[in-house]
Amino acid sequence: MASSGIIVFIFPVLCICAVKSGFVKVECKAENVGHYGQQSLLECVVKTSSDVNDPNIRMVAWKKLTSPEDEGDLVLGFKRGKLDEPKRGYRFAEPSWNGKNMNVSLLITNTAVADEGDYKCIVITDSGDDNMVTTLKVQAKYSVPTVYSIPEKIVPNTDSTLVCESHGGYPQGTIRWFDEEKHEWTASSKMEAKQSDDGLFQLTSRLSLLGGSTFSKYTCAVFNASGGKEDEKTFEMPPPPPSSLGGEHTASAYTSKVVAPLVVIGSLIIGLLLLLLYKRRSQKARRNSTAPLMGTPIFGHIITALLFLLSNLL
Ligand SMILES: *[C@@H]1O[C@H](CO)[C@@H](O)[C@H](O)[C@H]1NC(C)=O
Ligand SMILES: *[C@@H]1O[C@H](CO)[C@@H](O)[C@H](O)[C@H]1NC(C)=O
Repeated sequence: MASSGIIVFIFPVLCICAVKSGFVKVECKAENVGHYGQQSLLECVVKTSSDVNDPNIRMVAWKKLTSPEDEGDLVLGFKRGKLDEPKRGYRFAEPSWNGKNMNVSLLITNTAVADEGDYKCIVITDSGDDNMVTTLKVQAKYSVPTVYSIPEKIVPNTDSTLVCESHGGYPQGTIRWFDEEKHEWTASSKMEAKQSDDGLFQLTSRLSLLGGSTFSKYTCAVFNASGGKEDEKTFEMPPPPPSSLGGEHTASAYTSKVVAPLVVIGSLIIGLLLLLLYKRRSQKARRNSTAPLMGTPIFGHIITALLFLLSNLL
């Protein structure tokens, strides 16, 4: 009987403890997006059940985690009624925040690429404690691309390269190439991404162009990490100079000048051969019979035809 009395006595005490620590909850936005060089907000609020009135926050610790298991670096702390070693550039988002304010959001005043990562918000109140991890993703917009050619002055019918550059973006993006008919030429290009000390990326893409098979315009477009187009720049290929156009004309004129006499000479030779063959046969026929020559007028016809052809072609 004595033991059951003890159980009856202990049970409510356990219940009160369990319920009490469950009364405080830190709720954060799972993922926050910050922009390079601007303010970033990591949103967290402390929720208490309705029967806790006038809750008081005794301690807050905002820690940047370098891995999910580690202790983390304290970036903003509040303890015994005052701020505890706050790191420069980190503060409570609420102006003049105090222990009565349940909005414990963290504000990063000048976001850097290095600020990206997981943050743990630990809260102790007079009615219980809780903690929560939230993530900051940093984004930086790529510059409007610039395009230039190698060689600077493109020589018609020789190979050349177009170089497109865009910098200051994060996370790593891509450069794609299109012609004026919107066909993609990225497969003929090679892209390089370099990360500078501030963590931002510089993208450089080289598009190889074969001489004599180019479009009049090429567009270089920068896409961010999630595939959104950020900006583009169109490069106009120099028009083929008139001297090269003339060159093409003289080339075709040259071929016709060479080919025409060849045709004439060829047909002349064939004609003469046929003539010889015919003459021989008819001479044989004449020796074998005294019949009148049927073929004689044909020679005349062939010669007239050949003369006509010649006069036309030359
Ligand atoms: C917390 O405070 C920040 C800064 O004042 C504000 O932008 C945010 O909306 C607040 N969050 C909530 C849930 O009230
Ligand atoms: C990419 O660009 C789109 C459209 O501009 C934008 O909505 C998105 O947030 C950007 N994403 C990144 C990672 O920069």
